[in-house]
Amino acid sequence: MTKTRHHPLAAALALAAMALPFAAHTQTAPKLKVGLMLPYTGTYAALGNAIENGFRLQIAEAGGKVAGREIEFFKVDDESDPSKATDNVNKLVKRDAVDVLVGTVHSGVAMAMAKVAKDSGTLLIVPNAGADMVTGAMCANNIFRSSFSNWQPGYALGEVMAKKGLKNVVTITHKYAAGDESVGGFKEAFEKGGGKVVKVLSLPFPNVEFQALLTEIAATKPDAVYTFFAGGAAVKFVKDYAAAGLKKSIPLYGAGFLTDGTLDAQGADAEGVITSLHYADGLNTPRDNAFRLAYAKTFKLQPDVYAVQGYDAAQMLAIGLNAVKGDVSKKAEIAAALEKAKIDSPRGMFSLSKAHNPVQDLYLRQVVGKENKLVGVASKSLADPARGCKM
Ligand code: BEZ
Repeated sequence: MTKTRHHPLAAALALAAMALPFAAHTQTAPKLKVGLMLPYTGTYAALGNAIENGFRLQIAEAGGKVAGREIEFFKVDDESDPSKATDNVNKLVKRDAVDVLVGTVHSGVAMAMAKVAKDSGTLLIVPNAGADMVTGAMCANNIFRSSFSNWQPGYALGEVMAKKGLKNVVTITHKYAAGDESVGGFKEAFEKGGGKVVKVLSLPFPNVEFQALLTEIAATKPDAVYTFFAGGAAVKFVKDYAAAGLKKSIPLYGAGFLTDGTLDAQGADAEGVITSLHYADGLNTPRDNAFRLAYAKTFKLQPDVYAVQGYDAAQMLAIGLNAVKGDVSKKAEIAAALEKAKIDSPRGMFSLSKAHNPVQDLYLRQVVGKENKLVGVASKSLADPARGCKM
């Protein structure tokens, strides 16, 4: 489904375009067709909206254009449904003939996007989904990620939890690539550091009937729980965990999606939860402060990690296309420009690995009130191992 929606920034951009002299209109290059494939409904709807907001904010700050080309958006709601993913991405690639794909949130959907991008040669920037394979076995010259690999937050927190002396941990996630790989990264570091994953629990995505699994956690009595949930499921899991009486006895840890963009809905039930992520509240850098102010003014919302990833996807697109004066066919030059770029993100500077995944600091955060308060750096300049990537 291609949707046109009135976005808060659309009116401002239309006014800016009208203010251009006529000559500028007649000489402009053809519009750059950007295909946004994101979830606008379901468990991850808020994540998709935040990514689009961040993406549009960066474009607006850059004067509404990328490499001198105005933008035409084509949108598909992917519903976080892998069974519809190939058809959905083909609507953008074949029907709309987009110049660049930006998407998505869900790892299973992103892998279908990466396959189509690889086969068709369409430029793809992934603004969230952490599927390790996207910058692993499926890596390609035209595929880039502005977010993270699922392995990264898990690995960083596994090291921290082992160093704390925690010994027995139960993991719980949705059963799909993101959950499995997040637990994989966690287990790798945690067990290397002397801990043991004693039970691996999961439920199908997007189910949120946690009760039986919470009963199992209570019976197992681990030292802590490591979890991967995001969006609406993260809200419900944190609330159910507290309601089951576990919060007092078994500390809850997770990849930072558990508490990012969710704290208003989770309230006091999230207090004290410790997570790792490539973003945090209170970084208090001039770059992040300016981003947060602009985002809050434009959207009347606080930004979260998803907004940052959308913003940085637009920054990466600009870096790549500026290097080729907007000519998207020059894939090798676009890749070369991005591979040597230092990306000035609200999260802090990052660069891309040879496999095109961010090499970045993973922060340790703890929920205090409505904030994922920065506690420290869990892992400095952490690079995903990019297993299986041959490029
Ligand atoms: C994923 O499916 O990769 C994912 C979804 C939500 C948050 C983080 C990762």
